[in-house]
Amino acid sequence: MALPKSFTPFQIKDKLAETGLRGKNFEFLTDYTREQLQSLFEAGEMLEPYWRSKLNLMEGKVLATLFFQPSTRTRFSTEVAMLRLGGSVLSESNPTTSSSTAKGESLSDYLRTVSYYADIIALRHPNENEVFPALPGARVPVISGGWGNVTHPTQGLLDVYTIYRALGRFEDVKVMIASSDLSRARSGHSFALGLATMGAELVYVGTSVNPIPQLVMDKIKATGAKVTVYNDLTSEEYMDCMAEVDACYLPGCSVPKNDPEARAAFMDLIKPFYITLEGLEKIKKKTGKVVGIMHSLPRNDVEFDYAIDDSEFQLYFRQIGFSIPIRMALIAGMVGVD
Ligand code: CP
Repeated sequence: MALPKSFTPFQIKDKLAETGLRGKNFEFLTDYTREQLQSLFEAGEMLEPYWRSKLNLMEGKVLATLFFQPSTRTRFSTEVAMLRLGGSVLSESNPTTSSSTAKGESLSDYLRTVSYYADIIALRHPNENEVFPALPGARVPVISGGWGNVTHPTQGLLDVYTIYRALGRFEDVKVMIASSDLSRARSGHSFALGLATMGAELVYVGTSVNPIPQLVMDKIKATGAKVTVYNDLTSEEYMDCMAEVDACYLPGCSVPKNDPEARAAFMDLIKPFYITLEGLEKIKKKTGKVVGIMHSLPRNDVEFDYAIDDSEFQLYFRQIGFSIPIRMALIAGMVGVD
């Protein structure tokens, strides 16, 4: 038997080093190669046994979460990931009123200052045009917890990881991303960038009045992935499209609650995209395929039938479980383990 030198038990630190994440910001999934993301997924799998318990990979390290927009999942999941790794968390969930940004401190100075307290920062912010110029202020790696309308890479990461764990491959995998407002679908676009990097095929279904941001489309095209865009489909055409894919992703509605006019427009345009349990069962009967329904959550009752919650088609709550080990891998990869 001729065995290579690399024939040794897996070590998490080697897998994390392969990700190339150490010391870098996490802004877009296309900033990483297919091999790097694959290593990250493998590190996530190695950390899965600890997502409900603890190990001491990040003991003595501190995560600061600075969330300028509301969040349940992204902030808690990132924080619990650090706690499960044995690290500590500083949580700022309302910086516009309770941090010194309320006194006019710039985002750049805020990031520079917090870098003295923390080893890694997770930042959610409504405006990517404010974030990008401020990032050099940070002296520690920054995770995007969602910036403006264009990027929510850790959501995309956990969604791609869910596909990886559900199907075990990306080859011959076709995923639909559907929204009546693709101009604001940052989680859907991050998912698309991750899938495109991994070699899956994309189908976007949207409306001609709210197109995909050019920045996102340029990044997808640069991966060489196959992508098809359909606009203004009827319900029937939409379900025909659905029968062709392995999973359908709904990025939800990013229109703020204090903009009732824009929310009403979203709710109106989404009507043809409503997914019923009956429709999914019909597809299964015809094709034998169980089309997984994914959603970044929170959801709106105009998007799909809540009867899907307790069916085999439901992936949206299962995604939350996978968010923890993959964010554990991300944090440990970005901070680094010696
Ligand atoms: N999916 C997502 O970003 O959820 P939160 O807004 O609750 O973080």
